[in-house]
Formats: sequence, C-alpha cells, structure tokens
Amino acid sequence: MKDNNKTTVYDWPTRIFHWLFAFLFLGAYIIVEIIDDESPLFTLHMTAGLIIGFMLILRISWGFVGTTYALFSSFKMNPAEFFGYLKDAVVAKTKRYLGHNPASSYATIIMFICAAGLAITGVIMTGGSESDFYEETHDLLANIFLITVIAHIGGIIFHHIKHRDSLWSSMLDGKKKVLPEETGIKNSKRVAGMLFLILTLTWTGYLYSKYDSTNQTIDLLGQELVLGEKGHESPYEGENHEEKNDDD
Ligand code: HEM
Ligand code: HEM
Repeated sequence: MKDNNKTTVYDWPTRIFHWLFAFLFLGAYIIVEIIDDESPLFTLHMTAGLIIGFMLILRISWGFVGTTYALFSSFKMNPAEFFGYLKDAVVAKTKRYLGHNPASSYATIIMFICAAGLAITGVIMTGGSESDFYEETHDLLANIFLITVIAHIGGIIFHHIKHRDSLWSSMLDGKKKVLPEETGIKNSKRVAGMLFLILTLTWTGYLYSKYDSTNQTIDLLGQELVLGEKGHESPYEGENHEEKNDDD
C-alpha cells in the first residue's frame, strides 16, 4: 500500500492549524449545543473561540509568508474555475490540484471570514454590548460556518469515492499524489510548526492567567470580557430578588 508517488504540499504550520481549528470549532459548537449557558463550563465556548481568533491571525500571516500551497496567492479564486470544477465533479473526471482546489479555496476563505467574525462579535457581546445585532450576526456566522464545514467534509468524501487518491490524508501527512505540471514544497517547516504550537499554547496560558473564576470574567489585553452568567447579573437582580435577600 506504500505510495512513493507522492510529494509534500502542506507544511507543518498549515496542518497543525487545520486540526486545532477543526477541533476547537467542533468544541465551541458542541458546547453551545449541549451545555447550559449558566454552567461555568460554558465559558469554554468563549475560550475556544478566542484561541481560534488568535490562531487565525497566525494562519493569515502565514498565508503571506508561508510555503507555496499555504499562500493565499496559490488559492484558486476564479469564479468560472470554481463553477467549472463543481460541474466536472458531477459529470466528468474532476481536474486535480496539488494545492487547494477551487472548492476548498472558497471554503477556506468562507471559514476564515466566519471565524474572524465570530471572534469579533463574540468579544463585542461579552465586552458589554447589549445590541441584538452582534448576537444575531454571531448566530448567522456560526450557521454559515457549520454548513461550509459539512460541505467541506462531504466534498472530501465525494472526492475520495471518485478519485481514490487519498486527498483526505493530505492534511495529516501533508502529501498528495504528484502532478506533472506542479511541484511540491522542499521544506515542510517543522520549526515554524513548533513555533505555531508554542505561540498558541502561550496565548492559551495567557487567557488562563487572566481568567477570574469567581466572576467568570477575563481581562483580554485590558478589556474586561464577561464570559459567564455570574458576571452578567448582580446578586439582587432579576426574579429571584426576594429569595436572594432571604439567603443573606
Ligand atoms: C470541523 C471540521 C473541519 C474544519 C473546520 C476544517 C477546516 C479546513 C480548513 C480551514 C482548510 C484550509 C486549510 C488551510 O489552508 O489553512 C481545510 C483543508 C483541508 N481539510 Fe479540513 N476541516 C475539517 C475537517 C476535516 C476532515 C475531517 C478532513 C479529512 C479527513 C479534512 C481534510 C482536509 C483536507 C484534505 C484539506 C485540504 C483540501 C485541499 O487540498 O484542497 N478536514 N479544512
Ligand atoms: C469560532 C468560534 C465560535 C463559534 C463556532 C461560535 C458559535 C456559537 C453558537 C452556535 C452560538 C449559539 C447561538 C444561538 O443559537 O443563540 C453561540 C453563542 C454565543 N457565543 Fe459563540 N462562537 C464562537 C466564538 C465565540 C467567542 C470568541 C465568544 C466570546 C468571546 C463567543 C461568545 C458567545 C456568547 C456569549 C454566546 C451566547 C449568546 C446568547 O446569549 O445567545 N463565541 N456561539
């Protein structure tokens, strides 16, 4: 089963980003679905989102200075090529690409925009804004993100059934089957991958160090974000006013 006919296309920073991004997205999504928003565990939703936001800054920077197929300039963003690709995917043998194909190029950009928007609206919501606009936008972006992820995974399964060229594993080992007209990358940037991981862990540690578990707030670079219900309500607020007084 060993296939020597492969070449490296995705470097380490891109691959580490991919799996952390996927894991944290699913984590953030599952938390809002299964955990009550009054539970202290709900704060993990915001934490996951803030880590995604940080990783996105690193990935976008890498999109300008990284290796060939991590670069945004290598993405196939021509709309005619995109529709041609989708048409071929249904009726003919789809053209193969060494880097991102047109469908995954678009999916990537949509996911990046949604994730950035989710982080920004999330920070504004927890930063004290009462406007429904941010909550509704957050909800909308989360749904667009989810649909794109489903299309992404569906596309990979479809591609696998059709081509059997193990595209699906290219985000694991970084390798794709060679193509005559394109060349793979020479250096898979292991050190940059380690640096990416260290920076992300440092950011996570920073968030942890700035978290006040009593009030469920976080001091994010000088801005206080209220992550939990505790921080939202004063003890004498709301319907339970009398009960709270009795407790005193
Ligand atoms: C929550 C789940 C997932 C999310 C959010 C996600 C997100 C992404 C993103 C953002 C990219 C672009 C990577 C970049 O250039 O930085 C990408 C590419 C890719 N992903 Fe995923 N992904 C998910 C699940 C998966 C799964 C389960 C697989 C395979 C088993 C997979 C395989 C790939 C592959 C092969 C590419 C490259 C596609 C190409 O070469 O055209 N992804 N994904
Ligand atoms: C990529 C990351 C994120 C995803 C996928 C995501 C997704 C979601 C979803 C699906 C909901 C439920 C919306 C509803 O049905 O009402 C939600 C709610 C919420 N999210 Fe996020 N989110 C992300 C990042 C963030 C960040 C970074 C923050 C804050 C720093 C945040 C704060 C919140 C809050 C406070 C709510 C509750 C809003 C309400 O009261 O309905 N999220 N998020």
